[in-house]
Amino acid sequence: MSCNPIAPQRAVDNPWWVDQAGRPGLKMIESHNSGSNTSGNQAPAPDLMVVGELNVDLILENVNELPALGKERIAGRMKLTLGSSSAILASNASRLGLKVGFVGALGADSFGGYVRDALMDAGVDTSQLLTREHESTGLTVIYTHGGERGMLTYPGAMERLAFEELPLPYVTAASHLHLSSYYLQPTLRPDVPRLFRVAREAGMSTSLDTNWDPDESWDDDLYEVFPFVDVFLPNDEEARHIAREGNLQRAIEKLAAHVGTVVVTCGSDGAIARTGDQQWVGPSLPVDPVDAVGAGDSFNAGFLSAFLRGRPLADCLAAGTTAGAFSTTCAGGTDAFAHMERYQRFELEMLPRASAVEYTEFSRAERDV
Ligand SMILES: Nc1ncnc2c1ncn2[C@@H]1O[C@H](COP(=O)(O)OP(=O)(O)O)[C@@H](O)[C@H]1O
Ligand SMILES: [Mg+2]
Repeated sequence: MSCNPIAPQRAVDNPWWVDQAGRPGLKMIESHNSGSNTSGNQAPAPDLMVVGELNVDLILENVNELPALGKERIAGRMKLTLGSSSAILASNASRLGLKVGFVGALGADSFGGYVRDALMDAGVDTSQLLTREHESTGLTVIYTHGGERGMLTYPGAMERLAFEELPLPYVTAASHLHLSSYYLQPTLRPDVPRLFRVAREAGMSTSLDTNWDPDESWDDDLYEVFPFVDVFLPNDEEARHIAREGNLQRAIEKLAAHVGTVVVTCGSDGAIARTGDQQWVGPSLPVDPVDAVGAGDSFNAGFLSAFLRGRPLADCLAAGTTAGAFSTTCAGGTDAFAHMERYQRFELEMLPRASAVEYTEFSRAERDV
């Protein structure tokens, strides 16, 4: 593991809080699934159900220049690790103490076995993963240069995951549904509104992080999902594309008119949460990043682990920025969370800064400007 050092510190507790706006913070883990499970005497139903894509990440660091076709270049370092936004979120949320279930598709190959083992090691329930005999497990080659990264993905089995294959009784037994990488799942995509509606009808809370659209068309079909989404979690660039608005604050305003709570991550600048007229800005935390792979997914894991414990939105934001910043201290999306005592030290060290969240309430007049 290549990680940057974290100093030890003392424990502090956060106050409990209930959101005046009604949604964030009200959904308690115990309220939906306490004592229930999918079929009688098996393991308890998950808190968090992740439906989505699975792949390995091959990370090539210190790539100064990409090779043109027919040429070769050298990377400074290489790492093969658990990839895919959904799997990184699931793995880190499980390490943060949530019971996590996963529904997704793998190929019957060694990368598929690697992904399954990595999720199991993190404590994620892999009993409902689908294995495709004649398809390959997805792969993302990530090349990094300084704090920047580019990605090249072969989707493989994840591309053909269909709504009809989802084990709905298992999915809906959980408290919360999360979907990442909307644009990487073309077969499931037309049915995502239906999936989220089914989840809502089953009493689940929901969250969505589209991640980047490789086609960069940012089609409006996404807006059909929004009525069934409690928390929408794009990064700043994605938020501006989806809202078709270059100014981030105006993009947040536009998105907040369609979805209950919008949480926009802004890389090293922290994150912004917006619900109705209320907005919280979470600060950037000082870290010495190894890479930013999976920072957004780790943010989501931290945010949802607080959200599903009924924490107030400001606390969820602080938990997200802490987990996002922490993930950058090791290579890849999940390594940082392999040693949770290191996370606890980081969380305690960062708590005063992470919880210095700025609050603004916008009047209708200000919003209409
Ligand atoms: N260099 C960094 N320093 C501190 N925190 C970071 C850094 N990069 C990311 N983070 C944290 O991780 C969160 C998600 O990162 P971001 O890059 O916005 O997401 P994504 O990976 O989806 O593009 C940020 O909101 C921030 O809290
Ligand atoms: Mg992201």
